[in-house]
Amino acid sequence: MPILNQLITTILPFIPKTIVGQVAKKYIAGVHLSDGVRVAKNLNGNGMKTTMDLLGEDVKSAGEAELIKNGIISIIQSIKENKLDSNVSVKPTQLGLKIDKELGYLNLKKIIEEAGRLGNFVRIDMEDASTTDDTLAMYRRLCSDGFKNIGVVIQSYMHRSEADVRALVKNRTNIRLCKGIYNELPSIAYKKKQEIRDNFLKLLKIIIENGSYAGIATHDDYLIDHAYEIVQKYGLGKQQYEFQMLLGVREKRRNSIVSDGHNLRVYIPFGEQWYAYSMRRLKENPHMAWYITKAFFVH
Ligand code: FDA
Repeated sequence: MPILNQLITTILPFIPKTIVGQVAKKYIAGVHLSDGVRVAKNLNGNGMKTTMDLLGEDVKSAGEAELIKNGIISIIQSIKENKLDSNVSVKPTQLGLKIDKELGYLNLKKIIEEAGRLGNFVRIDMEDASTTDDTLAMYRRLCSDGFKNIGVVIQSYMHRSEADVRALVKNRTNIRLCKGIYNELPSIAYKKKQEIRDNFLKLLKIIIENGSYAGIATHDDYLIDHAYEIVQKYGLGKQQYEFQMLLGVREKRRNSIVSDGHNLRVYIPFGEQWYAYSMRRLKENPHMAWYITKAFFVH
């Protein structure tokens, strides 16, 4: 099956969008804000927190970035109106970072201002390595402008991440820690599964030992089990960490984390721009080849 998966990964861009959509729909709440709200309500009702994410990345015009900024502000308002236990995630390139850094910054600032006004929090997702410096620079600028309702993401596959974490914890930054999903060069990123895991646990300890909040974002049993041990060893309270998972992935393990008494947040993507996100999720699915093959026949 792994060989078949590799083959399907290679031809994935040529598979019709309808087939990809059919297989990927479990990862996406839907295309409308109302879909995101419905899924968030359901998860909140089952004892889980959520992060809502308006899909879209790497916009090509200021107008597109403006539309996304307004869409994210509507999500924040809707979270308040519907009394959801949810925050939002944003991608710097969906706000115009690659068109003009100042444009990206100003759009992000407007979102964070509105979130602050409504008592909410904004997580700045981390994209590929070409954006890491600019994303962290935006975060530092927001901090020096006085905003506190923000957090960042650190990818354990990046060689630079230890230095980034050590700098961020000085400011008690709220950090989501994940492995990282982009295809980076071996000169800047760990490639071996165990190296990425080891670095994840090393970074998690640095975050916790320095009193920063840790969002432990993984579906990997090895990391979840070690994180349990770390949480216990350091005697962490629930206000110091949470587990985070993606919608549609490892729901049984997700439920067991909740019943073990930990906070768990589910990342809920929705929106018309579902394709790029779905392709990344499909490539990570160990059963992708089987699901795609099945979709061809039942379509
Ligand atoms: P791994 O990929 O090894 O998965 C562990 C196990 O989970 C697999 O063996 C499989 O059983 C199951 N699994 C994982 N993915 C699956 C899928 N799609 N379908 C079915 N089963 C699956 N990355 C990034 O670069 N920047 C970011 O900002 C974020 N943000 C983010 C938020 C949250 C809440 C999460 C959970 C993840 C991210 N990521 C991310 C993605 C992250 O970097 C990583 O790619 C995925 O979480 C997969 O890595 P795991 O640690 O889950 O391990």
